[in-house]
Amino acid sequence: MEEQLLQLKQDALVKVKEACDLKELNDIRVAYLGKKGPITEALKGMGKLSAEERPKMGALANEVRGAVASAIEEKQAVLEKEAVAKKLAAETLDVTLPGRPVNIGNHHPLTRVVEEVEDLFIGMGYTVAEGPEVEKDYYNFEALNLPKGHPARDMQDSFYITEDILLRTHTSPVQARTMEKHEGKGPVKIICPGKVYRRDSDDATHSHQFMQIEGLVIDEHIRMSDLKGTLNAFAKKLFGEDREIRLRPSFFPFTEPSVEMDISCMICKGEGCSVCKRTGWIEILGAGMVHPNVLEMAGFDSKKYSGFAFGMGAERIAMLKYGVDDIRHFYTNDTRFLHQFHEHE
Ligand code: PHE
Repeated sequence: MEEQLLQLKQDALVKVKEACDLKELNDIRVAYLGKKGPITEALKGMGKLSAEERPKMGALANEVRGAVASAIEEKQAVLEKEAVAKKLAAETLDVTLPGRPVNIGNHHPLTRVVEEVEDLFIGMGYTVAEGPEVEKDYYNFEALNLPKGHPARDMQDSFYITEDILLRTHTSPVQARTMEKHEGKGPVKIICPGKVYRRDSDDATHSHQFMQIEGLVIDEHIRMSDLKGTLNAFAKKLFGEDREIRLRPSFFPFTEPSVEMDISCMICKGEGCSVCKRTGWIEILGAGMVHPNVLEMAGFDSKKYSGFAFGMGAERIAMLKYGVDDIRHFYTNDTRFLHQFHEHE
């Protein structure tokens, strides 16, 4: 029996030493020290021994059990430590790795143009005014000296909703509404950006919906030279100090006289290129002195007050400023196009 116990101890200690994880170690514990294990069995068989041998064997069995138990305990501590180290190694974070970039948006190029133009005019003392996109025929046409049946209404093919309501074809109705609110008292100095709608077939330079930015100034003694000076300052600030402007006679029912403004081509500096169609000049906006009928209809005394107005397409400005060759890019919202206009790059 003594031999058996010593052999047992040796086997157990070898197995404990070789155990490579906590589960294996636990299996060894159950196998050797469990209730059905060989040491318990040996102790049970103690009754068959002589009285002399019994205490000796008893002590030996206890010694074997103690040795195996403490070997297991020691090994357990080692394995537990190893398990923690392994887990930590697996969970290591490399804090020096670059993070994933957060996809931040940017302003739409049209928003940028509108805000830039707004800022320029705010700097000259203007305020921003807005109005409805679904507009009354009265404000869109009649109050602007375009009575029903007037042939010039054909200049702006319209989307009618009812006979008297339409999608505004320009932002001039905001001017009519603002003038009316002023109840015949100047000064009025506003800039009106917003979406407008016309029955146009979409192509590289036309869109049935686009953005306009219009301005209006009404006060005593406002003259054509004020309009010219304002537009000159505006063109230089937006397109560069070396821009020249030129005014050509034109026609709008709500202004008299009416003009169209060109700026000297910023690409070829007046030499002639494909952008300016070899003329050296690029048309930018329409403008004029507010027609006396328009002033009177809005409640202003046209003998005392005069004013000027101008209007431009935000898309056209953006296309020229950023070199965009197709107006449809502004509306298809391809992020590859839009991301080129990141303010921070
Ligand atoms: N409302 C005009 C248009 O859409 C532009 C304009 C505004 C012209 C103000 C003159 C004065 O064509």
